[in-house]
Amino acid sequence: MSERLKAMLGSLSCRRFLDAASGTGDFLAELREAGAVFERVVALDLEAHWLIEGRERPAEPRPFHIQADLARPPFPPASFDAAGMANGLHHLAEPAAALGQLRRLLVPGGRLIIKEGLAETVDKAQANRLAYHTLMAELDAYRGRSHRPSYTERAVLGLLTENGFTVKERLSYDPHFDGDYREHMDPRLERLRGWIETEPLDEGVRNELRERYDGLRRDIERHGVRPQRYLAALARRD
Ligand SMILES: C[S@@+](CC[C@H](N)C(=O)[O-])C[C@H]1O[C@@H](n2cnc3c(N)ncnc32)[C@H](O)[C@@H]1O
Repeated sequence: MSERLKAMLGSLSCRRFLDAASGTGDFLAELREAGAVFERVVALDLEAHWLIEGRERPAEPRPFHIQADLARPPFPPASFDAAGMANGLHHLAEPAAALGQLRRLLVPGGRLIIKEGLAETVDKAQANRLAYHTLMAELDAYRGRSHRPSYTERAVLGLLTENGFTVKERLSYDPHFDGDYREHMDPRLERLRGWIETEPLDEGVRNELRERYDGLRRDIERHGVRPQRYLAALARRD
C-alpha cells in the first residue's frame, strides 16, 4: 500500500464505523493495516453467506454483522462517524438511494471513503482485466445479480456529489500485486468459461459471451493481464 493511500485510509479512525457492502471483511482488514482504529464497527451486507464467512475472521473490535440492503438500512440517522465502501458501488442496484442512506446514517461532517475499480485503463494488459470484469458483470446481470461494468472516475465522483457529499481527496492508483497476476487470473477465467457454458442463458447470448471470452483469451496471450486501476475517494457529508 502506498504511503498516500495508507494516510487516507488511516485517517478514518473514529468511534462508530460502518463498512458498507462489507462482504467477508477485506476492506476492514485493509483499513486496520493502514492504522485506522475504531471503537465500534458494523459490517453490513446484502448476502448472509459473506457475513457468515466474515464472522470467522479475527478482528478487533469484533464487527457487528448485519444483513440488510444498503438502500434500506435499519439504523437511525447519524448512527456513524465514518463509513467506507470498497468494490461495492458497482454492485448496488440502487446506488443513488444507497448513497442517500449513507448520508443519512453519517453525522454532519462525517467521512465516507469509496474504493472502486475504475473503467480507465493505462495499457492493453489493464484493458484485458477490465474486459474480464465487464464480461463477468454482464454474465451476472443475465443471472439476475446486481453487477455493473466498472464506473469511470468521473461517474464515481458525480454519484458522490449528486448525493450530498463533498469530495475532499482522491487518489487513482495501480494496486500492487504480490506474485504472478496471470496465475491469479487463470482459475478465474476458467470459472467464467464454465459459467458461460453451463448457466441457463439464451443461446444467442451464450454465443456472444463465448466469442468475447475467446477474444479476451487471445488478447491476454498477446498483451498479458494486470490489476485494474483503482480510485480511493474521501468525501465529507455536506
Ligand atoms: C465485490 S463485493 C465487495 C466486498 C468487500 N467490500 C471487499 O472489498 O472485499 C460486493 C459486495 O456488495 C454486496 N452488495 C451488493 N448489493 C448490496 C446492497 N444493496 N446492500 C448491501 N450490500 C450489497 C454484495 O453482497 C457483496 O458482498
